[in-house]
Formats: sequence, C-alpha cells, structure tokens
Amino acid sequence: MLLGGVPAFAQSSAKQIVYMTMTAKPMSWPIRPGAATNTWSYEATVRGGQATRAGYLGPILRVPKDAYLSVNFKNELVEDTTVHWHGLDVPAIMDGHPIMAVQPGYRYNYAFRILNRAGTYWFHPHPDMRTGFQVAKGMAGVIIVTDHEEQVLGLPSGSRDLILVLQDRVIDEGNQFLYNWGGAPGFLGGTMVVNGQVDFAQEVDSAVYRIRLLNGSNARIYKLAWSNGAPIVVIGGDHGLLPAAETVPYLMLAPGQRAEIWADFSAMSVGDSVRLETLNFSMGSGGGNWPQGYEMDIAEFRVTRSVHDPRVLPKFLSKIPRYRLEDAANLANPREIPISRVGTEWRLNNAAFEIDNVASNEITRRGVLEVWEFQNLLGTSTMAHPIHLHGSPFQVVERTVSPAWQAAYDTVRHGILDDGWRDTFLIMPGEKVKILTKPEHFTGRFLYHCHNLEHEDMGMMRNFDILP
Ligand code: C2O
Ligand code: CU
Ligand code: CU
Repeated sequence: MLLGGVPAFAQSSAKQIVYMTMTAKPMSWPIRPGAATNTWSYEATVRGGQATRAGYLGPILRVPKDAYLSVNFKNELVEDTTVHWHGLDVPAIMDGHPIMAVQPGYRYNYAFRILNRAGTYWFHPHPDMRTGFQVAKGMAGVIIVTDHEEQVLGLPSGSRDLILVLQDRVIDEGNQFLYNWGGAPGFLGGTMVVNGQVDFAQEVDSAVYRIRLLNGSNARIYKLAWSNGAPIVVIGGDHGLLPAAETVPYLMLAPGQRAEIWADFSAMSVGDSVRLETLNFSMGSGGGNWPQGYEMDIAEFRVTRSVHDPRVLPKFLSKIPRYRLEDAANLANPREIPISRVGTEWRLNNAAFEIDNVASNEITRRGVLEVWEFQNLLGTSTMAHPIHLHGSPFQVVERTVSPAWQAAYDTVRHGILDDGWRDTFLIMPGEKVKILTKPEHFTGRFLYHCHNLEHEDMGMMRNFDILP
C-alpha cells in the first residue's frame, strides 16, 4: 500500500528517462467498508522508474535527480484539466498553467528534466477555477526525488521511508465525497483521509522511520502533534532536508506544504501505538462544522515487530546556502503583495486572477535575487493563507506580527518552521512575511497564489513573468 518493500532506487546516470502514461479519469476506490467511493484520479503506467499507489491517489513516483520525466498525459474527464508539478522547476509550458488547459479527449506531453534536489514534490490539476473541485475528487500524486547527497546519510529507507498524504473530506452515508466551496474559509471536511483511506493505521517495527508528510488538503491547515506528547523532530521541508534537525512541540503544515520527520518508535514495545493528531489553534474567521483548528486524529502507528535499530540522527543533514536580505536587488524597494478581499473574492496584489495578464510589479528577471513582502493586514475578516510560488524555491527571511494578532499567533508560532528551501509558506492574520527568491532556470510566465484551493479558484492567484 505504501512504499513498503520497495528497494532503494539505484544510483543512475543523468541520461535516465522515466516514461509515464497517465490518464485523468473517473475511477473508484473502497475508502471504507460498503460502497466504493467515486473519484477522479490518475491511472498510470511507468517505465524506467519506480511507482506505487496509495488509495485513490495517483502514482507515487521515485525518480533520481537529473532524470528526464516524460509524461504522455490524456484527459478522459468531462472538463478541462492540466497537470502542475508542484515544487519542480520546469519550463513554463510544462508547468500546467490554466491557459494550457487540456480539453476532454486530448493529450499533452509533459517532458522535463528533474533539476530539483532530493525532496518530496507532488502533482495536481491546475485548471482555471476548477482546481479545488478536481483535487477534492481525488486528483493528486507524489514525486519523490532522490540524490547522492541524501543517500550517503543513511536515513531510514525502503519500508521505513513512508509518505503520508493528508486530506480532509466530507463523506456521506453512501461513502461519496461531498464538496462545496465553503465560503470564505474554503472547503473544510471533518473526516481525515490519509493516503486515500479513513482511519489510517500503519504497522511499524520498533525502529526509526522517515515520514514524509504532504498536506494535500484543499484548505485545511494542520497543527501536527504526537498523541504521547513527544516533540516532533523535523528533518525536511518542502524541498528536502534541512541543514540540521529541528525539534518542535508541534508542526504547522499548510495546504501544499511538505515536511519530513524523524519518527523514533524504537523505545516502544509490540502492541504499543501512538497517534499523529491535529490540535486546536486560532486564526481569525472561518466557521462551519469543522473550522480551521478543529482537532482530529490523523494516523495511528502500531508496533507489530520488535527489532534492534541503532540508527542515530545525523548531526548535519544538508548544506543550504543562505540568501541574505542585504543582497536583494530590490532591498530599498521590496515587492509588496497585499492580501485583500472584495465581496466573496480573495485577491492578491490588489487584483483577482487574470489568465493572460501581469501587473507592472509582477515582472522579474532570471538570476536576480529579490525580496517580496506579503502582507496579510485585512481587518476582522482576515485569516491564514498558504502562499505558493511556482518555479524556483525561496527562503523565508522575516515575519512581523501586528500586536492585535499576537495572541492568535501564539497558538501556532512554535510550529511555524521556515528553514530550508520552501515553495509554500503560511501567512497568519496580521502578519507580514518577507521571502527571498531568485528564479534560477527558466524564463516565461508562472503563477503565484494562495494554496487554499478555493481561494485560488476564487481569484487569489496572479501571473508573474520571468524575463531573461
Ligand atoms: Cu500546488 Cu500552483 O500549485
Ligand atoms: Cu506549484
Ligand atoms: Cu487564501
């Protein structure tokens, strides 16, 4: 079901090509006893690489850095879709921009080299105004990139390297997904689905595991904690390993974000179990039956086999060059991107999405380091947003919270982890966040947006151009 028993990916030459045929189509999956759940998903066959599946989700691919990925994609849905490779630095025409919609019955060949470092990336649809709906129907998959820098560390691997895709859903009595736009907060569900299964439980050895977590939810922000009160040892973020492990009492994981944790079950005995939960927090407005900050169990880990595992956490995990604020080309004049709301429409940079337009302050240059400041300073109707940039990863360098929102911020602050390479960051109500970004590889038109998918569909997305 998971990556259990999959042998480590052989070190490969840069010429390796992974061919995949992938069809978006209606499918079904027995998510819990009784009737199967009707989903939309990706059916795939893979040559030259490794793939597994989990529940209704699309393939979980493992590919080495520098491999070429060639995806012969077909849309067998009843509406337009695209495939976006979240976190991967790919040419603009391969990025799944909504303007490159693949119509029902048509194909698109996505082909690109994996330039990213080892890490947990993913893919999902990105059509105009329908991303939330399609992801909620089940469309998402995972791309795990491996590289040599990481392999020499000897982290837990094979069946002890797990991926957990976290999604919340509303499931009716006939086991079907219910979806609605959810008003201002976006779609929030009260049933946790992990790797396409409810009541997710994983049998483990009394050993150390590397657990990759992907928040594949539409709008749900998690405040992850262990049920036994143990702290969370974080070893990786969106784009792979951190310089060194960081220990936090709980970890915030917003839609689109990934984290890797060092989960040590070695002191537990056969029959013991521990749960990963999401805890309460406060973040401005957003009601409904299961509001943001609603507490839920996410996954249970049950020790079923006693083994001796003397593995220790490496002191240094990876080298990450630090961008410095003083090196930003626009230090004196940061790009300021306010978050706002007009009627029911969320906006970014004072405008709603325009599929074929950029504003004058949305034009950047390849190879130029810039500071962008996102500002979440609306009045009482403000809420938290996960902000995502396509293209090269960035670094989060500064957060400032206004005094009025400090108390709410205090319910999450110990779990906001910004280190390492990021492609999505959480901005809390009353907060300003500065990031440093440098488009490395490609020129062209890319997107930045809120990864609350209902906000994105309601307009909280903009193009930006990267000029040579
Ligand atoms: Cu994962 Cu533009 O999105
Ligand atoms: Cu993306
Ligand atoms: Cu948002």
